[in-house]
Amino acid sequence: MTKLTAVTQDSVSKVPTLPDAQTVTEVKHWTDRLFSFRVTRPQTLRFRSGEFVMIGLMGDNGKPLLRAYSIASPAWDEELEFYSIKVQDGPLTSKLQHINVGDEIILRPKPVGTLVHDALLPGKRLWFFATGTGIAPFASLIREPQTYEDYDQIILTHTCREAAELEYGRQLVDTVRNDDLMQELVGADNLKKLIYYPTTTRDPSPKMGRITDLLKSGEVFADLGITDFGPETDRAMVCGSMGLNLDIKDILESHGLREGANSDPKEYVVEKAFVG
Ligand code: A2P
Repeated sequence: MTKLTAVTQDSVSKVPTLPDAQTVTEVKHWTDRLFSFRVTRPQTLRFRSGEFVMIGLMGDNGKPLLRAYSIASPAWDEELEFYSIKVQDGPLTSKLQHINVGDEIILRPKPVGTLVHDALLPGKRLWFFATGTGIAPFASLIREPQTYEDYDQIILTHTCREAAELEYGRQLVDTVRNDDLMQELVGADNLKKLIYYPTTTRDPSPKMGRITDLLKSGEVFADLGITDFGPETDRAMVCGSMGLNLDIKDILESHGLREGANSDPKEYVVEKAFVG
């Protein structure tokens, strides 16, 4: 028989009292600067893979402390996944990094964003350019069946300072390639379309350098056997630091790709990686 316990302050705080409260179902710490977590999904929440929402915690002043976070899980997943940096003196992430399974976070169910298929014209090859936590929207999109239906090849590039910071993306790509459900949704052969191109800039790894430099020197194209790159064939989504976004935009524009938006689809779209 279940032991009855007195209602203490602790058990009272477990009752959902926050507005838009969702319960944490999983937390994984990847490095001392990075963690991912999953939460319950509001039944009414519909979003397009690649979009972001505002999430957070109740601040000490009793007001919600919210930040924009890309949803890292695909639109079909029954839970929501997020990937976050830990900033030791960051107003939100200094606290968010300590969440545990069963805790609650606030989630405003109003998804928005430009890293969506609707913002791109049809093409043959889709590039996802990410640095750091900018991989989050692509963690969603590489699990989205439409990605494989719409393109012949999908190339995910991820650049981080250290090799350990690549681990979330690396494991995700492995999971996507080997997951029974993904194979059922997308087809095992279709999953072979996904190319993963990780690079580091400060730690030794098999491929070193900023993706921008590797694009400018042509090394990426040589590595992947790509001889043509242009507005007829290529589409791109970019998510990283402001510097990365601006530098990649220059490169894409110099190859004739134009920036699109939800209301005006073109050849590439950009979003800043959100930092807590
Ligand atoms: P680098 O180590 O050369 O600065 P951060 O942790 O600062 O957000 O950076 C994540 C990754 O993005 C790092 O590998 C960093 O390289 C790289 N990066 C930062 N700015 C740019 C940029 N303007 N162009 C290309 N890569 C960049």
